[in-house]
Amino acid sequence: MKRYEALAADVAASIQSGTLKPGDKLPSVRQASSSRHVSPATVFQAYYLLEAKGLIRAKARSGYYVAQGVKTLPPEPETASRPDGEARPVEVSELVLGILESAMSRDVVPLGSAFPSPLLFPFARLGRATAVAAAKLDPWMTVEDLAPGSPALRQQIALRYLVDGAQVAPDHIVVTNGAMEALNLCLSAVCKPGDTVLVEAPCFYACLQALERLGLHAVEVATDPREGIDLDALETAITRHEPKACWVMTNFQNPLGCSMGAEKKKALVELVTRHRVPLIEDDVYGELYYGHRRPVPTKSFDTEGWVMHCSSFSKTLAPGYRVGWTSPGRFLREVTYQKLTTSLSTSIPAQLGLARYLERGSHERHFRELRLALAKNRDLYTEAIRQYFPGDTRVSRPAGGYFLWVELPRKVDALLLHRMAMTENMSIAPGPMFSASRDFTRCVRINHGHPLTTRVESALGKLGKLARKLAR
Ligand SMILES: Cc1ncc(COP(=O)(O)O)c(C=O)c1O
Repeated sequence: MKRYEALAADVAASIQSGTLKPGDKLPSVRQASSSRHVSPATVFQAYYLLEAKGLIRAKARSGYYVAQGVKTLPPEPETASRPDGEARPVEVSELVLGILESAMSRDVVPLGSAFPSPLLFPFARLGRATAVAAAKLDPWMTVEDLAPGSPALRQQIALRYLVDGAQVAPDHIVVTNGAMEALNLCLSAVCKPGDTVLVEAPCFYACLQALERLGLHAVEVATDPREGIDLDALETAITRHEPKACWVMTNFQNPLGCSMGAEKKKALVELVTRHRVPLIEDDVYGELYYGHRRPVPTKSFDTEGWVMHCSSFSKTLAPGYRVGWTSPGRFLREVTYQKLTTSLSTSIPAQLGLARYLERGSHERHFRELRLALAKNRDLYTEAIRQYFPGDTRVSRPAGGYFLWVELPRKVDALLLHRMAMTENMSIAPGPMFSASRDFTRCVRINHGHPLTTRVESALGKLGKLARKLAR
């Protein structure tokens, strides 16, 4: 980001959060230039940009003022979770499956869905790449490309790691059936029934389901809605419970949307390395950043192989192809063994099709368009929530991905809200789905991966009305 853009972004954030109110005077160009250590020309450029966006206006011989009528954003959730720190068996599947099943029909407005609009993906191009790759398939590949996966695709994944700032060789990658299989293989490689795993509070419900399926205990660790898992609490839990793994999302966490800074990621890797605990990193949304650069995966700080990094193309390029991968560090052999003894291989035509598509390089343009669409939706959905939901609603402001974490007034029961919403053909993801202790009872996760059509906006309006009713 250029200096003037950074300054403009800071001022815009102060306006949108309500710190600077309509009519407030901005610092003079001279003041801003001296306090930010930038030239007056940089400040002018920043102010012109803000003026062009309608956020500020110039008054002749007086200075710059926050424009009248600019809309402030709803406040973000601020309070870090405080789970009890106890190890417990996980029992969420019934709740989660009931909620997911009820929301699978096309007739339901997918605010609770985990998927972005399928119309955002380049299926025609991918299909052509897959058809050509499958037609050219050397029959021996059906044997040679079994686990750990197609060398051509692993090469492309290794190149993406390089772009993202991590050094991962193709032969340290295992291709899987989506990230879900990658995460499950990693978990099975390092845990046996009865073991304990540390998770964020809240965390992705499928993480809890995976623990439940394998008969593992979960310890929920305090997590800040903007900065992610609390490292002191994590260390305390490691010392107390001697877990066999930590499962963490450091980029655009599902459901909170938060990301850790690079320094914190480094400290996290140092922590797990010091305690010799495998870190299962779920990084399916890292590529969906709205800023200028992809946030680094913790893998880039992993010198001793304790990070088991997992991701996929499901959310970024090829939903339905079911192609993901893991780079499991020092547990490569165990994970490869798990893959060989469970699903053996990932569809070889799908792997070759993706490898061909990536080799051609047109994914960069698709990624850019996808990120822009999601960033725009974030703003539109946030504005709709501000307009329709109860006044003291808090909404996360993620810098990537496609989920908003919405904290409703205290009286609102998110599970009841979900049931009421379903009677009007709208889904939401209620907070207790994301918690082994069924916490977050007044929170919901809203998917903003679909364009804000009139139908979606009207659903948000109805949902806001229901929430207001429950808040009374
Ligand atoms: C946080 C997170 N991890 C993993 C997955 C699963 O990814 P895949 O579809 O590639 O298996 C999802 C899908 O919703 C997700 O939200």
